[in-house]
Amino acid sequence: MAHQIEAMPKPDKILQLDGISPESVEAHWGLYQAYVNKYNEIMGKLEAADRGAANQIYSEYRGLRSQLTFAIGGVKNHEVYFDNLGPGGGEPSAEFGSLIERDLGSVENMKAELKAAGMAGRGWAWVAFDWTWKRLDVYIGDAQDTFPVWDATPIIALDVYEHSYIRDFSTARPKYIDAFMANLDWAAINARFARYNISEHLG
Ligand SMILES: [Fe+2]
Repeated sequence: MAHQIEAMPKPDKILQLDGISPESVEAHWGLYQAYVNKYNEIMGKLEAADRGAANQIYSEYRGLRSQLTFAIGGVKNHEVYFDNLGPGGGEPSAEFGSLIERDLGSVENMKAELKAAGMAGRGWAWVAFDWTWKRLDVYIGDAQDTFPVWDATPIIALDVYEHSYIRDFSTARPKYIDAFMANLDWAAINARFARYNISEHLG
């Protein structure tokens, strides 16, 4: 039986953002659901794919396996993104805040770095913790399936594909990124940070 997944429950909070409209978020949520559906479709088709015919130029197996990672990225990136948005405001927890200060200088500097990465990226920008080097940094991903580094865990995800902002901001990506920063749900971000027990691994 092929592995199948379900979309995360849609949080009401993402329809209560300041400057990012519910209509825009609803349309965006639909794209996320499409990634979930495609993951399930691809996993089903892989069971029947001819592994013996796998070929790097073209093969059904190549198409399925390579686009599977695109679907997975589309699922996981959006789940971090939607989770870290909300009207609650707040600030980093003491533990996350001290790591931000240690590795990125300050919360304001982290936001400035993430904004620059969001302007420089073609798809995504993340704040992620690298478990190999035990440090926090900002990374760019140009598409759903370009991951920055292995062994890193995204804590904050900023979607900069045009579908994220074209409805509310036309092509003004900086205004969208400013709205994103103003709508960070720090309670959710702190909970994500705490989930990984990162502080226990800092030594
Ligand atoms: Fe998106």
